[in-house]
Amino acid sequence: MTPPTPFAAVILAAGMGTRMKSDLHKVLHPVAGRPMIEHLLASVERLSPAKVAVVVGSGREQLEPLVEAHAGTLVVQEPQLGTGHAVQQAQQALNGFAGDVLILYGDTPLVGAETMARMLTRLHEPDEPAIVVLASRPADPRAYGRVIADADGTIAKMVEFKDANAEERGCALCNSGLMAVRAADLFGLLGRIGNDNAAREYYLPDIVMLAARDGRRSVVVETDDWEVAGVNSRGELAAIESEWQRRRREQAMVDGVTLVAPETVWFAHDTMIGRDSVIEPNVMFGPGVTIGERVRIRAFSHIEGARVADGAEIGPYARLRPGAEIGEQAKIGNFVEVKKSRFGRGAKANHLSYIGDAEVGAGANVGAGTITCNYDGFLKYPTKIGEGAFIGSNSALVAPVVIGKGAIVAAGSVVTRDVADDALALARGSQVEKPGWAARFREKMAARKKAK
Ligand code: UD1
Ligand code: MG
Repeated sequence: MTPPTPFAAVILAAGMGTRMKSDLHKVLHPVAGRPMIEHLLASVERLSPAKVAVVVGSGREQLEPLVEAHAGTLVVQEPQLGTGHAVQQAQQALNGFAGDVLILYGDTPLVGAETMARMLTRLHEPDEPAIVVLASRPADPRAYGRVIADADGTIAKMVEFKDANAEERGCALCNSGLMAVRAADLFGLLGRIGNDNAAREYYLPDIVMLAARDGRRSVVVETDDWEVAGVNSRGELAAIESEWQRRRREQAMVDGVTLVAPETVWFAHDTMIGRDSVIEPNVMFGPGVTIGERVRIRAFSHIEGARVADGAEIGPYARLRPGAEIGEQAKIGNFVEVKKSRFGRGAKANHLSYIGDAEVGAGANVGAGTITCNYDGFLKYPTKIGEGAFIGSNSALVAPVVIGKGAIVAAGSVVTRDVADDALALARGSQVEKPGWAARFREKMAARKKAK
């Protein structure tokens, strides 16, 4: 899947995104727990681009850290005069780069590396097309620009919906907006486009007709419409999310994972689940989750940034937060929250607990209602529970604190000092018993009430 020659990616993201009605830049809205533009960058990076330029307008400060993190260059387009004008702004950033240019749209996040490679490869086939356009045949072609092409994929015309006549609007082949062009051709062609059209914009697709005028053919590469679905509104964002999830669930089942009610399980872009694991209904995976084999995730659990080893059981109603590492055969039960803590093999916290910044040794049993008090309002502190220790119900472990191997903490204890291996720690008021007191009390009170 290596492209034939070095290429630069230009990602357009300067559109206003007005229909999102959002303070967040459109391309930062997440699909499967990851900003749209990160999906694109991840695909592009699989092909090792020589350069990446991201064209932005308003909200550029929101994109800066992300673009920097990907070693890309931010290019400002101000004002936004159309897609052709947008690509033109990237010329300086490409700084005389002489390879191919792959033009992508920040709001068309699901285009895969294979398709990108297919476009770049097509550009170098023996007929040497000037431009490769990515197109699809959506069930509902809506207001997409149309690609008028003949049977062998040679493009006769690209026309925006607004400018198209009835016959052209009837054409099923739609422009995804994505193109591959050699840098040596691209900027010359862009310099020649005008804005004499319905939108008064500089249309990128016009370079196809300009190349044709020079006697050079451009060709279309087709893909399925799902891959080039764009996001212009919250509704379209939800539609993409929903279809992404549907496909991911199918893949999970193909990979040997049982989903009891597939339509209720939500994955993140990087969720990994081993075979013969069972995911019960209404489970949500945030980013950064790895689940081993033969794991059971019971209903209504919320899991993010966590690793769960083979044969463990989670939930129902469990919450695993970032840094949770659950060992083999371990059990995290209902209403237990685990953050940045490691559970050893076979360790258990079965009911109603908060375990944070802790290490729980193999085979330890954390009783119902145990809380690690890991935070004093300023700093966080660690708790260590040794192998085979037993923490009685409703205990508060005030960190930093170490409970030794095989130690027992009596129920209801507030433990503020370390407990030695195999010791019993009792840290609660000791019980006082007054024989017959309750009976005498009832007698006295009943008499008092009667006298009233
Ligand atoms: C564009 C195409 C249309 C295609 C459709 C696919 C043109 C003229 N039309 O139309 O043929 O069917 O995409 O979705 O190219 N952008 C800028 N600067 C601008 C204008 C746009 O960076 O001045 C960016 C936007 O942020 C977006 C992309 O370019 O990422 C597409 O812009 P948009 O306004 O959505 O174009 P469409 O009208 O959808
Ligand atoms: Mg659009």
